[in-house]
Parts: sequence; structure tokens; C-alpha cells
Amino acid sequence: MIGRANGKNVSITGLGCYVPDRVLTNHELAELVDTTDEWITSRTGIKERRIASQEQAMTDISLPACHKALAMAGVDPKTIDLLIVATVTPDMAFPSTAALLADQLGMPDAGAYDLSAGCTGFMYAIAQAYGMIAGGLVDRALVVGGDVLSKILDWEDRSTLVLFGDGAGAVVLDAVDEGGFLGFELGADGGGGANLWLPGSGSRHFDEPDRFVKMNGREVFKFATRVMVSSAEAILEECGKTVEEIDVYVPHQANIRIIDHAARKLGVPDEKVVVNVDRYGNTSSGSIPLALADAADDGRLQPGKLVLITGMGAGLTWGSALIEWTHATNGAAA
Ligand code: ACO
Repeated sequence: MIGRANGKNVSITGLGCYVPDRVLTNHELAELVDTTDEWITSRTGIKERRIASQEQAMTDISLPACHKALAMAGVDPKTIDLLIVATVTPDMAFPSTAALLADQLGMPDAGAYDLSAGCTGFMYAIAQAYGMIAGGLVDRALVVGGDVLSKILDWEDRSTLVLFGDGAGAVVLDAVDEGGFLGFELGADGGGGANLWLPGSGSRHFDEPDRFVKMNGREVFKFATRVMVSSAEAILEECGKTVEEIDVYVPHQANIRIIDHAARKLGVPDEKVVVNVDRYGNTSSGSIPLALADAADDGRLQPGKLVLITGMGAGLTWGSALIEWTHATNGAAA
């Protein structure tokens, strides 16, 4: 789907992030599996990532991010009508992480559900929340994107272990007078689904399921480099904007080579590209809010700035949004 945001103006009025305290470096990983800091750095740009403790589940890493976002927006949790949690690592299949979080946050009137779109989940979730606010169904939404992928990795598989980390971000979405979201493009190709999957995690029978992430890295790399460009170009055209007008480019943080490729193909100069994959690795649905928060804190994300966001991930899925930033969101970073 692709569309201009033709309803009410809706924007991000609060932003908050959280990552677990535990830092896992490439050097430590080299003691666990047959890899090196040099291999990981040169192939991915990742130097370290955060890893949740045994006790920390998705609700636990989301809660501090939500508190921060709500405080920044200056809103009472009771006024939230909708809570969407984009994740592939909910606390459990049910109850949803969103229902548990709504209870912990004190949101008795919120419709709350989880959304699964791989690493693109946050993009899908903000598009849904935009639609519900713009259409008048709800006044205010809280959207969480995050994952605790360390819990579903095979800690003996070097080909996936080195890529991922844990983290979450939350945004408050509200109607505003001007600016905010300009449009969204979302897509899915289940035909490529088996290139990044978690066999045995649902109702499909697998012999000897081990419930670990499996990935065909080369195929995902080819897919990623293609859609990161095509999705961004499509949303720019749909909204009547040019790449020169982009002030801040926030790509999904999977791999520095994918980010560099997309930026070069699109023609976005380095200083406009937000990169934190070196510190967090790929945090799946947490990646984009974490990157937005870093851009806010380093002063690039000011009201009036035009921001291009593109995500991609399991499904295979992808999604872009254009937003004219409206609120000061400094202090959101993890
Ligand atoms: N350390 C050392 N060697 C390794 C490691 C490792 N951690 N992992 C794989 N290798 C080896 C392989 O076994 C292979 O050895 P071989 O040639 O003897 O068979 C060699 O390194 C090269 O492997 P390739 O897979 O060809 O390496 P490539 O350059 O493609 O890089 C990578 C691999 C980094 C995974 C890359 O393909 C990639 O980034 N793909 C996209 C991954 C991605 O973005 N996934 C998530 C997107 S969606 C989401 O966010 C959930």
C-alpha cells in the first residue's frame, strides 16, 4: 500500500527508548563462536549490542521507554486510546504484550494489541495509529517498537548471533495543527519469507523444531538493498518531495553496508544519515525509534525538519514514512 496522509495532521509528540544495561562486545562474541571483531565490523559495522537479562522480557524493556515517551509528551497514560506493540518477541503468544503493558501503565480505556511485521513492525504500527487518529477513531496513541531477539537466537550459530541486539522505543502520536506524517508505503512478500524465519514458533508443524532464527544472509542482503531504495523513492514521489528536501534519513539499522548502499543510491549525503548500528546491532522493531532518539539528541531532529524513515525485515516486509517533525524530542535516547 501507498498513500498520502490526507486526514487530520498527526505527529510524534513524545519519544522514549530503552536498552538493557548489559553490553556484549564483538571480542566477547569471539570467545563464544568462531568469529572475530574484524569480520563482524567489516561485514556489518556492528561493534557491540545490548543483551537482556534472563528476567527481562519485552514488557520489561518497553516499560521504561513508554514512561519516557509519555513524560515527554506530557500526557496522562489514562488518556491513551490505543496501544500497539510491534514485536516478534512478545512475552508469550498470549496475553499480548500490549495488554500487559496497558495494565502496567494504567491505560484502562486503551485498545491494545501486538503487531507482527518483523523488523518493519514499527513502521506498520505507526501507519495504523496514524490511520486511527486521522479517521477519528481514537484521539491519542502510544506505539512501541522493540524486540528481545537474544532470546530466540541460536547462541552457537555465528551467522545470526553476531547481528542482533535487544532494545525498545515508544512514541506518542497525537493530532497537531500542522506538519506531522505526510504519507506511508508498506509492503510484504511472503514468497521470500523462508529467507528469515523462526520455524516451529507457531501452528505449522516442523520436525525437530528448535525455535531459533534462521536466515539466508545473502538473500536478505539482496532484498534489503533493493527495497530500502525502492520504498524510499516511492514515498517521496507519492508525497511530491525530492531527496534534496530530506533533512534527516533514518534507515533500519541492520548492517552499515545496507545503509551505505541505500544512502548512496538515493543520493542522501552522509551527514543526513542516522547510524547507531555500531552500538546496538540490529534491534529489529526497536531500531527505528532508537535511531530517531539518537538523531533528536544529537540536535538533527528539530521541528520543521523533513524526515525519511525506511524499515525492512522478516516477512519479508518493508515500509517507509515521511514526516515533518513538529516537537522537540531531545532526551529520548536510551
Ligand atoms: N564470523 C566469521 N565468519 C562468518 C560469520 C561470522 N560471524 N558468519 C558467517 N561467516 C562466514 C560464512 O560461513 C562464509 O564462510 P564460507 O565462505 O567459508 O562459506 C563467509 O563468512 C562469508 O559468508 P557470507 O554469508 O557470504 O557473508 P556476507 O558477506 O554475505 O555477510 C551478512 C553476511 C553480514 C549476514 C550479510 O549477508 C548481511 O548483512 N545480510 C543481511 C542480514 C540482515 O540484514 N538481516 C536482518 C534484516 S531483517 C531484520 O532486521 C530482522
